[in-house]
Amino acid sequence: MENNNLLKVENFSISYRTRKGDVEAVNDVSFELKKGETLAIVGESGCGKSSLARGLIRLFPRNIKKVEGKIILEGRDVLSLDEETFRKEVRWREMSMVFQGAMNSLNPVLKVVFQVAEPLMVHFGTDRETAFSRAKEVLSLVGISSSFAERYPFELSGGMKQRVVIAMALITNPKLLLLDEPTSALDIITQENIMNLLKMLKKELNLTYIFITHDIALTSELADRMAVMYAGEIVEISPVEDFYKNPSHVYTKLLLDSVPTLREDKDLKSIPGSPPSLIDPPSGCRFHPRCPLAMDICRVKTPPFYKIKEGHFARCYLNEGK
Ligand SMILES: Nc1ncnc2c1ncn2[C@@H]1O[C@H](COP(=O)(O)OP(=O)(O)OP(=O)(O)O)[C@@H](O)[C@H]1O
Ligand code: SF4
Ligand SMILES: [Mg+2]
Repeated sequence: MENNNLLKVENFSISYRTRKGDVEAVNDVSFELKKGETLAIVGESGCGKSSLARGLIRLFPRNIKKVEGKIILEGRDVLSLDEETFRKEVRWREMSMVFQGAMNSLNPVLKVVFQVAEPLMVHFGTDRETAFSRAKEVLSLVGISSSFAERYPFELSGGMKQRVVIAMALITNPKLLLLDEPTSALDIITQENIMNLLKMLKKELNLTYIFITHDIALTSELADRMAVMYAGEIVEISPVEDFYKNPSHVYTKLLLDSVPTLREDKDLKSIPGSPPSLIDPPSGCRFHPRCPLAMDICRVKTPPFYKIKEGHFARCYLNEGK
């Protein structure tokens, strides 16, 4: 393994048990992440982005059915660790997460500083005084002054609450931060401020990010690499420039045509059809029922990853022999 590799995910799969059948939320996902890199994960609602991120930090819902693969963090497969070792040595300490919608689940009756200090007290047994003083430090780092630290969540704006949940994830000093839609539900100016904060924190704290977003236009600011998910699978992974210049999976192309980007003015086109059920996903290429260019082979055989160039892979037959 290269020394600068922080994370290597191999053949990671997750399924949930439901009354209608098992949901294959994450299927055979593999990728690597170097120290200091940001990988952005994009894809339509329900494609498995949150399942993947929560799976990496091993916070599974009760109806989890299957977890398979490897999560190699600095050379150690942390998926094979028992829960106690993972909790003591990995979760929050090595990797932290800002959960989707977390700013709306702050406890309304507890002061901000307490909520930020809590992970230290709970997970590390840090005494109250030390934890509070560290919480104030981290809050100030994310732009919340000490007078606001003493307030309750309802007294803060959306952007400030988002800063608070980022502080909660950072207080334990992790190397890897999983950010699940950290800017959704915020207005454009506030989104921009949070993106600038994330950029600053990454540099100051030498962080590595997995950044999940619906908003593709935001990714170019922060991401080094892009992963596109469709129906539980990564279908394309590439350096960020290639994602815009040379998208190589039909889904990536249609996704780019369907969203406004900062770089060009264009007519937006919607992707035909809707994402499939993950209880009985389509055979072959999971995108084939919606793909305008689908061929016979696409319906029966799962495409392999074709190498487009160094670090750029796409799982679409149209790249064969190119
Ligand atoms: N606990 C669960 N039990 C059963 N199905 C689930 C559970 N959690 C998620 N799912 C299903 O798994 C699939 C992936 O969901 P997930 O939340 O990971 O998607 P997502 O890409 O994060 O979506 P969004 O963009 O809306 O946040 C969806 O079909 C979802 O309905
Ligand atoms: S593999 Fe086939 S169905 Fe899938 S995106 Fe490529 S052309 Fe379309
Ligand atoms: Mg999600």
